[in-house]
Amino acid sequence: MARPKIALIGAGQIGGTLAHLVALKELGDVVLFDIADGTPQGKSLDIAEAGPTGHFDATLKGTTDYADIAGADVCIVTAGVPRKPGMSRDDLLGINLKVMKSVGEGIAANAPNAFVICITNPLDAMVWALREFSGLPHEKVCGMAGVLDSARFRHFLASEFDVSMKDVTAFVLGGHGDTMVPLTRYSTVAGIPLPDLVEMGWTTQEKMDAIVQRTRDGGAEIVGLLGNGSAYYAPATSAIEMAESYLKDQKRVLPCAAYVDGAFGLDGFYVGVPTVIGKGGIERVVAINLTKDEQAMFDKSVDAVKGLVAACKEIDGSLA
Ligand code: APR
Repeated sequence: MARPKIALIGAGQIGGTLAHLVALKELGDVVLFDIADGTPQGKSLDIAEAGPTGHFDATLKGTTDYADIAGADVCIVTAGVPRKPGMSRDDLLGINLKVMKSVGEGIAANAPNAFVICITNPLDAMVWALREFSGLPHEKVCGMAGVLDSARFRHFLASEFDVSMKDVTAFVLGGHGDTMVPLTRYSTVAGIPLPDLVEMGWTTQEKMDAIVQRTRDGGAEIVGLLGNGSAYYAPATSAIEMAESYLKDQKRVLPCAAYVDGAFGLDGFYVGVPTVIGKGGIERVVAINLTKDEQAMFDKSVDAVKGLVAACKEIDGSLA
């Protein structure tokens, strides 16, 4: 049987890491696309040459021609610019919106049946715009943010409790920005909710609050340390988890930026929610109950995303 075809639109830090991970995990053959001629070809060749020692069979092709992504099963989009120290994700809106237009058109023309995962920031607005520009079905276009934010939360919690990350689950909802909503009530160590762990004396409320804040600032912390770009290892690994669930019909329950129509008081809007990802794409949005406080935090986050979507419509009249 032919291997799945995975198109990576953007061959920068995240795109290159994605290509390496796809190859190492033998998820399929890779087409690495970028507008910067030489970069996708160079990275593809470098990774292909890692095959004999990395023990993987995968074909990698670097290109600047959208025709090469024809028939892709999955497209992961990282094209655009990352932020620099002092910038918020929202500062990237104007420039990355234009990129989403060309990417959306390229995918629509060449890989209209693909499952599309957007990573470009500001994430929730960009995935909405990418869906609009591509015209693909809503359930086939989603954004990677919740898996990453939850992974950061899980990492901090596992370190705090000195337990395996495998036994820590966490849910982060809402927009991928300062207003994201880490849900402590739904985050657990081997099924024990965080509030219970505070009561059991494993940690204190103050430490939990600090971890929640560090999760919200997780991206900025890395941007500040790197000084010339943003995170790429954890974002790439998170998107791979989503792509794998689609390709293998795993039906993983993963938080991601999905089109929500009906649940959470939303009618037709992209924001971070728990979903089930399988061969149909976003097969379900899991409508969990929120307390009044949680719903208020979620609504605030949705409002922030609505502001960004409105700004997109102002910049590009075709989106209005
Ligand atoms: N089409 C295709 N590729 C493009 C386009 C375009 N119109 N515009 C820019 N690119 C390419 C750049 O040439 C670059 O190789 O996108 C790549 C982006 O790579 P990096 O600058 O290394 O950025 P990266 O760290 O990979 O992040 C990409 O993901 O997490 C978000 O905020 C981050 O928006 C940023 C995106």
